[in-house]
Amino acid sequence: MQNSKAQNATEKGCKIDMEKLKNDLLLQAAIGEKTERTPVWLMRQAGRILKEYREVRASVSGFKELVQNPDLAAEVTIQPVDLLAVDAAIIFSDILEVPQAMGLPYEMIEKTGPTFRETIKSESDLKKIHTANINDLKYVIDAISISKKRLDSRVPLIGFAGAPWTIFCYMVEGKGSKTFSEARKMIIRNPTLSHQLLETITESTILYLKAQIQAGANLVQIFDSWAGILGPDLYREFGLRYINEICDAIDEVPKTVFAKGAFFVRKDLKNTNCQVVGLDWHTHARASRSIIGEDKTLQGNLDPAILYGSDDFIIEKTTEMMRSFEGKRHIANLGHGVYPDTEVEKVKLFIETVKEYKN
Ligand code: CP3
Repeated sequence: MQNSKAQNATEKGCKIDMEKLKNDLLLQAAIGEKTERTPVWLMRQAGRILKEYREVRASVSGFKELVQNPDLAAEVTIQPVDLLAVDAAIIFSDILEVPQAMGLPYEMIEKTGPTFRETIKSESDLKKIHTANINDLKYVIDAISISKKRLDSRVPLIGFAGAPWTIFCYMVEGKGSKTFSEARKMIIRNPTLSHQLLETITESTILYLKAQIQAGANLVQIFDSWAGILGPDLYREFGLRYINEICDAIDEVPKTVFAKGAFFVRKDLKNTNCQVVGLDWHTHARASRSIIGEDKTLQGNLDPAILYGSDDFIIEKTTEMMRSFEGKRHIANLGHGVYPDTEVEKVKLFIETVKEYKN
């Protein structure tokens, strides 16, 4: 059984390891195997929705200490598996660990979000950064090893990184922004510098994801949270091109590309070397299927705000969402991260509704 799965995975462009997982629904669905039910997990499941997370978080000085403590990071990675019964764990970390390991440290400021002391604005600023040395990300790799041991093969572990374009946005802007106009200014005014920076981020990301896989990550997801702020041509040149570079460099495990807001490149994503395409909640599943074709698994895509609704409303909308994927190659999730003030009972109802859904 495991052998034939591994064989199918190889045929589908990834090697998938031989670890005997007790629940490998996520990996089976990712490579297009038929599953007895649709697997489900939530982006940002390891986080503030859980009181148990908030307790661990309160025991340390802040978010960064938690991320850098492999033992505690592993603990909060596993909490959603125990408490929510999701079909996968995702390593507790942040996409901003990569720019930090490249030489730009960040602070996580309460109510403001991430802030970088220094930014990249000119050629001379490139002296501040270098390709990430994986030793500087050892705390994430250790957290993965500890999580794998404690998961004891119950469910797969998802590794992740930010897409180069989204990381570029933070490195240029220095903080979150509605428009990321500084980052967009940079690609227009200085495309050469922009490509140099994107290339260094890409190189770092490939090394980082490979180290995560080596430590036991069973699937990797690339988050391009700010894909949607570029138009199609610019996104192809400064965004998708580097995602493709990463996907082409990794063939050890299945890959998921979540490019939020980039509905306009679904045709291109059909040819990206990934097994799974994440959809945000603005995107119709049926239309996406007809554009992307049958050779990819689709992940998503309930509007996270639906979980603020009544139980009946959540059941109705989740069932509608499941139906829209027509039982074909699907991993159920929200269309973006779960909002931190969502009630846990509502999250559980979403998960149960998916699990009980029959095609
Ligand atoms: O459960 C999981 O999904 C794993 C952990 C995870 C975190 N961040 C933990 C986190 C993941 C996958 C991320 C990815 C991430 N980080 C993205 C891409 C996904 C997306 O949501 O679009 C982005 C853009 C970031 C950058 C980031 N990290 C921001 C803008 C913020 C502040 C906003 C916020 O949500 O508070 C963070 C902080 C952060 N990352 C928290 C968590 C649990 C909250 C920090 C806290 O506990 O105070």
